[in-house]
Amino acid sequence: MFPPPSSAKVSPWAVIGLNGHLSSVICHLPLTLSLRCLITAGPTREFFDPVRFLSNPSTGKMGFALAAAAKEAGWSVDLVAGPVSLPEPAGVMVYPVVTAAEMRRQTDALFGPCDVLIMTAAVSDWRPKTTAAQKLKKDGQGMTVELEPVPDIVSALAEERRADQFLVGFAAETENIEAHALDKLERKGLDLIAANSVAGPEGAFGSDENKLILLGRDGFREVIGPASKAAVARQLIAVIARLVAARAA
Ligand code: C5P
Repeated sequence: MFPPPSSAKVSPWAVIGLNGHLSSVICHLPLTLSLRCLITAGPTREFFDPVRFLSNPSTGKMGFALAAAAKEAGWSVDLVAGPVSLPEPAGVMVYPVVTAAEMRRQTDALFGPCDVLIMTAAVSDWRPKTTAAQKLKKDGQGMTVELEPVPDIVSALAEERRADQFLVGFAAETENIEAHALDKLERKGLDLIAANSVAGPEGAFGSDENKLILLGRDGFREVIGPASKAAVARQLIAVIARLVAARAA
C-alpha cells in the first residue's frame, strides 16, 4: 500500500459525498484529487557553436495541452518548457529552458514537492561533446561533430522519488510502439507510459491530434484517441487522477 500523495487534497464534494461514504463516491467521481503536477514539454537544443544546434521537431503542443487540462482539473501546475512558440496556459507557472542540462536542473529543483511528474519533453538523446565559443567558419569541407549521450532526466528522478510520487513518461516511436514503450516503462522506473507514433505525416510531432496507448504496471492498458490534443490531454489527466486515487486508497 502506498501512502496518500503528500499534497493531495480530496475535494469537499467527495468527502461529504452523496451518501456519506467516501470510498463509494471516489469510485464514481473522475477528478477528486487536487494534485501538484510537474510537466516538461517541447524539444531541447544542444549547441555545437553559438548559432548551431541539434534538436527535433517537437512543438510542445501535447505538454502545453496537458498543463491546461491539469489546471482545469484544479491541480497546481509547473511547466518546464523547451523552446516553443505557444501561449502560456492561464494559471500555470512556466519555466523556460533551452538545453537538456537546463531542463534537468529545473526539473530537479521542482520535483521534490510534486505529486505527479509528466515528462512529455522530447529531450535530445545526444549532444555535442564540445561547444565552440565562436561561430565555426565554413571552409568548403565537410565536418564531424562528436556526440555524447544526454543523461536521462526521468530515470535519475525515478531513483530519488518518494513512493507516493506518480511518474508518467512519453514514448515517441516509429515502429513496434508497444514493445519499445513497455521497455522504457521498466527501464526508466515509470508508473505509466504514453506511447504515440511519430512515424510519417500522421505522426504526433506538430499535429493538433494524437492517439496515445497508455501502458502501466500490472498489465494496465488503455487507448485514448485519436482526438484533438486538448481532448486527449483531458482524458490522460483523468486516467492519472484515477490511478493516483486508486493507489492512495
Ligand atoms: O528514451 P526516450 O527518449 O524515447 O524516452 C522518452 C521519455 O524519457 C520521455 O518521457 C522523455 O521526456 C524522457 N527522457 C528524459 N531524459 C532524456 C531523454 C528522454 O527524461 N535524456
